[in-house]
Amino acid sequence: MNDDAQRGIGRELDRLSVLSQDDNGMISREDGRLLKLLAETRGARSAIEIGCGVGFSTLHLACGLLRTGGRLAGWEGVETKARDCREAVARAGLGGVVTVRQEDFLDAELAPDQRYDLVFLDAMKTDTLLYFDRLMPLLETGGLIIAHDALGGENVKMRDYLDMLKGHPCLDTVFVSSEYRVGAQAHRGGAGMAVSRKTSPELDDVKSWGRRRAAAEIAARREPGTAARMRHWPELEYVDDYGGRGVLLVVPPAPSKDELLLLCRALLETRPRDASVNIHVYDEPDAAANRDNFHYPAGEYFDHLVAQIFRHPRLDRDEIRYFPEGVTLLLEKPETDPVSPSARYGRSPHASPAAGAAA
Ligand SMILES: C[S@@+](CC[C@H](N)C(=O)[O-])C[C@H]1O[C@@H](n2cnc3c(N)ncnc32)[C@H](O)[C@@H]1O
Repeated sequence: MNDDAQRGIGRELDRLSVLSQDDNGMISREDGRLLKLLAETRGARSAIEIGCGVGFSTLHLACGLLRTGGRLAGWEGVETKARDCREAVARAGLGGVVTVRQEDFLDAELAPDQRYDLVFLDAMKTDTLLYFDRLMPLLETGGLIIAHDALGGENVKMRDYLDMLKGHPCLDTVFVSSEYRVGAQAHRGGAGMAVSRKTSPELDDVKSWGRRRAAAEIAARREPGTAARMRHWPELEYVDDYGGRGVLLVVPPAPSKDELLLLCRALLETRPRDASVNIHVYDEPDAAANRDNFHYPAGEYFDHLVAQIFRHPRLDRDEIRYFPEGVTLLLEKPETDPVSPSARYGRSPHASPAAGAAA
């Protein structure tokens, strides 16, 4: 890359970085530098990004691809953002590297013979597992799949994706987060990324492996208990700009299936029918607290992850992956929306000050 090209890209990144990071959901500069580095060191030739926004991450990826001679196919659902992203790409002189499609990625027709060697996921967090299921079979062995917001507060909305990574036999994963110091104070340099490398194509033919098989793949190690009191509380709750909601709950040990079903129904009844909801239920605070710790023994973790509850506008029925029996239960959605969609819970004795409700 010559100096002029480098300067053009740098100017465009400077321009974007003064826009509101919150309004545009942009990744941090440090996470962007890592994306560029990963594209370069992987020698990526064919990358795909879901959720380009106004182009901040797109430019970083494209910068790496400029060095490898690769191409990036980007998806952005919102028209104004897709336009802004294309303009940013053009101003940075990266039009030959990037194409941006304005479309909901879940509606996109993907050529079955298309292959990617780098996938970057940064769109609806509650849908991350759906994107994964579409793209994993198209990812080359040795290729990278990178999910953003793996360590920020938002990660509660993609807990099912992060838990799937813990159990997937064809992926090697690390969580990456950067910190910097100003004086004695440490600051996080970004929302963190789960960087996974595909080690084998073994499960490529299994349709929707992540969503459909997650429950079945996790060993049922425990006898379902009885008569637990179903007091429950949110350890963490996160609602995004689109109303997508992630909730992490800790319940008393070993709830029975009936109790859990009652709880699920009660939780889902408070949400609109077409909402995106991702609720994770643990029956042991330690397992919940170690959810992002890849060194925590997976057996212990999954022993205490009781269920994942999933509602999605595209699904006709609600899904409960009930781990003690390794089954996915399907529930009819209610016919109408609740009068008041707001949910209220008691407070947790385990809640740390940082683990309150976040909006
Ligand atoms: C967190 S922002 C992306 C920020 C961007 N990666 C950056 O760093 O500048 C998420 C973006 O994903 C888009 N999005 C959400 N769901 C989508 C989908 N199903 N298909 C395409 N884009 C989607 C949103 O419109 C939003 O602009």
